[in-house]
Amino acid sequence: MAKMSEIDNPQPESTGVRVQLSPNVPVEPIQTLVDTCTTGSCGCGCAANIEAITVEGAPDGPQIHVQGPLVSVESIAEALAHCEVPDMIAGQVGSMPAGRLSTAARQTAIQERYGRIAEMADQVGCGCGCGEVGADADVLGAQLGYTPDELASVPSGANLGLGCGNPIAIASLKPGETVLDLGSGAGLDCFLAARQVGDHGRVIGVDMTPAMIARSRHNAQSQGDRYANVEFRLGEIEHLPVADASVDVILSNCVINLASNKRQVFQEAYRVLKSGGRLAISDIVATREIPPDLREDVALWTGCMAGAASIGEIETLLTNVGFVAVSIVPQSGSHDVIREWGPNTPLTDYVVSAAIEGIKP
Ligand SMILES: C[S@@+](CC[C@H](N)C(=O)[O-])C[C@H]1O[C@@H](n2cnc3c(N)ncnc32)[C@H](O)[C@@H]1O
Repeated sequence: MAKMSEIDNPQPESTGVRVQLSPNVPVEPIQTLVDTCTTGSCGCGCAANIEAITVEGAPDGPQIHVQGPLVSVESIAEALAHCEVPDMIAGQVGSMPAGRLSTAARQTAIQERYGRIAEMADQVGCGCGCGEVGADADVLGAQLGYTPDELASVPSGANLGLGCGNPIAIASLKPGETVLDLGSGAGLDCFLAARQVGDHGRVIGVDMTPAMIARSRHNAQSQGDRYANVEFRLGEIEHLPVADASVDVILSNCVINLASNKRQVFQEAYRVLKSGGRLAISDIVATREIPPDLREDVALWTGCMAGAASIGEIETLLTNVGFVAVSIVPQSGSHDVIREWGPNTPLTDYVVSAAIEGIKP
């Protein structure tokens, strides 16, 4: 298993490339152009995916070092084209050593992925999947244990096929309860919870991707007053925009695996729960040590697979934070779903979906 410290505190490095410029190019004007690009002041959006960029003098001419999770030489050339630099590029010197992605780089990659999915949601039967686009959302929902009635009851576009379990099925929600959904996506579990807690209950969905929040709010508004007891808040689950001791039940479906600092997520969950409040979470967990090359694969991380912590680690984190009656039960059959996300990856050897429960005493 990856060590707890690796999951909690990833090293601040990332992948990237070096680009060699022609020998006669002076460093300073290049630095100015690059600064313009990376601050976005040229307005071309070419800074997307770039975390850090520096220009250094070298015997054969200046080298641009670009760091970012999704950076390739082609993307750098495209970006620099906006900045009138490309003619000066002599070629790639070499890739920077692969290292751990910074938390910020991961958050950006996650927001980009789920932002794109939210924007695609109008396409019929999006079924975007945690892994690859293409699965049918309702088929996946049925595989995860949602009933046809439940799937038919939610607003169109609320189920994007992004879950890995059915937290509602283990939540035992009661009328009048206040429910919080961590990483609420387009709102599937919030809308189902809203029906169970009724008019005297309340449901709050939190998601850090603006396009996803816009999507879930649109889904709620499309039903008039029917979901007046649901609200969606933009925010990170590591910094919940929710008052202390105000929530009865925390739901989450396939989200905590994406978080770099899982301890902080559980601390926040503990803070906002009332005494006696409970966790009802579906998430991807690791059953064997995930090899470093798979852990560092950005697409596998944003696709809910590479960031999974082990069952033992989650149990320790939850217990250390203060939860009692912690239970983590792997869901037999979830491998069929996970296999569809990444048919060409060996990750079903390493991860499984699990039902995670615990109580704040
Ligand atoms: C795999 S999707 C699951 C969405 C939803 N729970 C469902 O089942 O349809 C993950 C969602 O979590 C959100 N997310 C990921 N990391 C987050 C974080 N640290 N804070 C808040 N939201 C996050 C993403 O924007 C995305 O909408």
